[in-house]
Amino acid sequence: MLILGLPSFHNSGWGLVKDGKVVSAIQEERLNRVKSYPQHYRDDIEVYPMHLGIDYVFRETGLSLADCDAVTIPMIPTHDKLVNAAMVSVDSVDEVLKKDMMPPYNKLLNLLKSREFSGKVVFINHQLSHASYVYNYSGYNSCDILSYDGAGCGWPPEVVAGYHVDNHKYTKLLSHRVPHSLGHIYSNTTGRIFGESDCFYSKKLNRYMSDEANGKEGKVMGLASYGSPIDSYKMMVLDEDSDFYIATYQPTNKIGYEGVEPYSTNLGTKQENIPRREKNKVWDFNDKSDIFYADLAATAQKSIEDAAMHYVKKLKKITGSKNICLTGGVALNSCLNGLIKRSGIYESVFAGPATHDGGHGIGAPLYYYNHISEQKSEKISNDFLGYPYTIEDCKNAAKDLGVSFKEFKDNKSLTEDIADSLVNQKIIAVFSKGSEFGPRALGHRSIVVDPRTQGMKDTLNARVKFREAYRPFAPIVLKEHALDYFEFEESEYMLFVANATEKAIKEVPATIHVDGTARMQTVTDDNEPFYSMLNNFYRLTGVPVLLNTSFNIAGEPIVETPEDAIKCFLGTSIDILYLDFLKIEK
Ligand SMILES: [Fe+2]
Repeated sequence: MLILGLPSFHNSGWGLVKDGKVVSAIQEERLNRVKSYPQHYRDDIEVYPMHLGIDYVFRETGLSLADCDAVTIPMIPTHDKLVNAAMVSVDSVDEVLKKDMMPPYNKLLNLLKSREFSGKVVFINHQLSHASYVYNYSGYNSCDILSYDGAGCGWPPEVVAGYHVDNHKYTKLLSHRVPHSLGHIYSNTTGRIFGESDCFYSKKLNRYMSDEANGKEGKVMGLASYGSPIDSYKMMVLDEDSDFYIATYQPTNKIGYEGVEPYSTNLGTKQENIPRREKNKVWDFNDKSDIFYADLAATAQKSIEDAAMHYVKKLKKITGSKNICLTGGVALNSCLNGLIKRSGIYESVFAGPATHDGGHGIGAPLYYYNHISEQKSEKISNDFLGYPYTIEDCKNAAKDLGVSFKEFKDNKSLTEDIADSLVNQKIIAVFSKGSEFGPRALGHRSIVVDPRTQGMKDTLNARVKFREAYRPFAPIVLKEHALDYFEFEESEYMLFVANATEKAIKEVPATIHVDGTARMQTVTDDNEPFYSMLNNFYRLTGVPVLLNTSFNIAGEPIVETPEDAIKCFLGTSIDILYLDFLKIEK
């Protein structure tokens, strides 16, 4: 059974699933080079053609759209009273097109039809698709799942959903709807802090959009450590009657959500009057006004933490389960994930690498497969789901771009050379085979430096990344040494912020945030060349930790192809590019 996963509204992610196994998956931003590319801007398809993702996932598979049994859309249409449906399948593309309710999808479905697709169109509940994505990574047979984001589907759109899952059978236990969205209160704050609009009206799509602030939530999380929460500005409060958290102020209530009453409170009125910070102004923490915005960031962080912890406890109380998966865009908040893990409410806490809307490209197809098939999909073991570029692809790119290279004969000589370069204080980039599907660089598209001096962070920023000084860089650590340096033994996908030990603060200061925490990634022997690179660095220095950041420059998506990698290398002050087994120097 072959299923193509179509993207959601934000962070377009495509995936191809064959007999329950992911063949290939990609975020569209990596192909059209538009960061956080939103599917709903499909009115500019001449500039950013929508076939890029399709061509990519089918590349060298010998398969085509004509072989597809189904495509999935991670949204249930809101007509026909399907608000609470988990899944709806439609046999004909024409049937869907006639309903004409999701303009971007109609364009997509027309394209599929023109390419001989004749299978089923299957709509999967948005939060269920998020849940399926994380469940298939977790390795748990039985667990709870908490999914929260900006907004999913249904009317009003669902913003929080809690499930219990046993062997791919999902039971919904919690559901909360717009306007009480953890994701939207965070985006709203992000908009204020970075001087962006909450939302704007698209005449073409006849609806409000709110993308300007999207993608900067991680910056707000970093900023929160410089401020303190202000109680009188809190953005969510517990409603004792319903036992759900409600939003005190939501710009989304100005969006045309038909049937949703405008919602505001006294706290909300106060928030409404907060001026937007001047866009792109340099941060100065001696300036009272900037401290206020840091306090606002801390308030947003505390607000979603309070609400999320409430839902975690609520789920635990219902099921008594040992394991929980976190998913939906809010689960990219690694500080919140760390808090949930640290609380010990569940014995085991898991978050997958593409828990945001990018993950729907595989979450929805896997749900459909497991729903209709006797066989069940197996655990997905890593995030390297991109097309596996070969050494020949890399050599051809180098030749085409006129750069010379040295070739290593094996992983041992390659990773020994990388470690030597790092000890010699070089800024290096690593490119290896298939890219990461999630937003984090976990070893195949990374920039890496020696973390032993604080100055290295400044050098990296001044020469390559050009990030705001308040934003932290993350450490990678050999898993067997994780507890010597950080609070958690495991964090494979860099989604848990942990407290750093005294040893870490002393030995690897470039990776420790101002509040003594780090967004750690543990590395094991199934992640090469990272694993051998770390081991060689450890052998040379006695430190099993390196600083890892994504292979891109500010404002651009992570590099995808060998050509992207070489161009990024040539356009920045990265000293050495390790392109698969090739070494390219300036
Ligand atoms: Fe979502």
